[in-house]
Amino acid sequence: PHPSSNLKDSASFPIGTAIRAHQLVKDSSIQAIVKKDFNSITLENGMKMYAVHHSENEYNWKHVDDVVHYAQQNNIRLHGHAFIWHSGTPRWINEMEPDSTALDKIMEDYILTYGKRYQGKVAGWDVVNEALLDSTGEFRKSIWYKTMGEGYIARAFELAHKADPGAVLFYNDFNIERDTVKLHSMLRMIEKLRAQNVPISGIGFQMHIRMDTDEKTIEYALKKAAETGLQIHLSEIDIIFNKHDDTPGGGIQIYDELTEEMLQAQADKYQWLAEAYIRNVPKQQRYGMTVWGFSDKHSWIPSFFDLNDWPCIYDENMNPKPAYYGFIKGL
Ligand code: XIL
Repeated sequence: PHPSSNLKDSASFPIGTAIRAHQLVKDSSIQAIVKKDFNSITLENGMKMYAVHHSENEYNWKHVDDVVHYAQQNNIRLHGHAFIWHSGTPRWINEMEPDSTALDKIMEDYILTYGKRYQGKVAGWDVVNEALLDSTGEFRKSIWYKTMGEGYIARAFELAHKADPGAVLFYNDFNIERDTVKLHSMLRMIEKLRAQNVPISGIGFQMHIRMDTDEKTIEYALKKAAETGLQIHLSEIDIIFNKHDDTPGGGIQIYDELTEEMLQAQADKYQWLAEAYIRNVPKQQRYGMTVWGFSDKHSWIPSFFDLNDWPCIYDENMNPKPAYYGFIKGL
């Protein structure tokens, strides 16, 4: 129904991409694509805790300032990723071995300082990222959980709300679209938080899916999440051919080469994902769909999982793939 020749004008909700801070200042071919196709950006790594909070009394805002400036200049929404994440926690915190009072103080200073500094400039924040485990849906035994107990989650949301009352505040995780135990655990956690008036306003599905991730399970998850009435963000989309688990290096190469059939199947899958989002998430809850990098050249998947793969909508030469047109069709 939308004959537009770019992503963002084909959609009735924001279309985002992850981007690396240096690419925005240095790489003009990337900037051109960002401007053409996207109206939302997420810094792939540059807003993580370790990237801004190098030591106890030290903050480094350079990259965040740059991306905020870029977003404002170009009228692009900025999504904040992420306040509290086990993998984003800087080493100095672990080395300090803080007790619960000390860690709470670190969290308070960090979220209030950070959130207030960019108040009104970050549309939404991934406040807590990946707090739950696969299969069991139990809390991940991160330093935050082990030190502060499950209350660290409510505390993070309260601080984020205090810092920037206008921002949409997300719980963000992976595999909740395919792991129904994890999904239900998350939904129970969110219900509990809301019963305590914790200011959570969105659910982020990372959506690092594979070509063979069960479609019915994904639709079920989106539908259940949407029933909460919260904003729903597909926050880190890529569609992967090969198998991988969630540990670095955990890739299993099945497809060595990319064929025409694979490209077409991936196009259909991107189309399907957009349609599934639209089908299951009511209009006013569509925070948007964000791809985790738009080109196979810069995708995190091959290096992180030690695989050859082609999960993105642009190829290694920065040309749109069939997946790009499939995505547009689905919007
Ligand atoms: C990834 C980045 O893409 C990589 O560059 C980095 O080496 C590791 O982190 N879930 C998240 C993202 O929430 O922050 C991760 O990003 C991918 C998984």
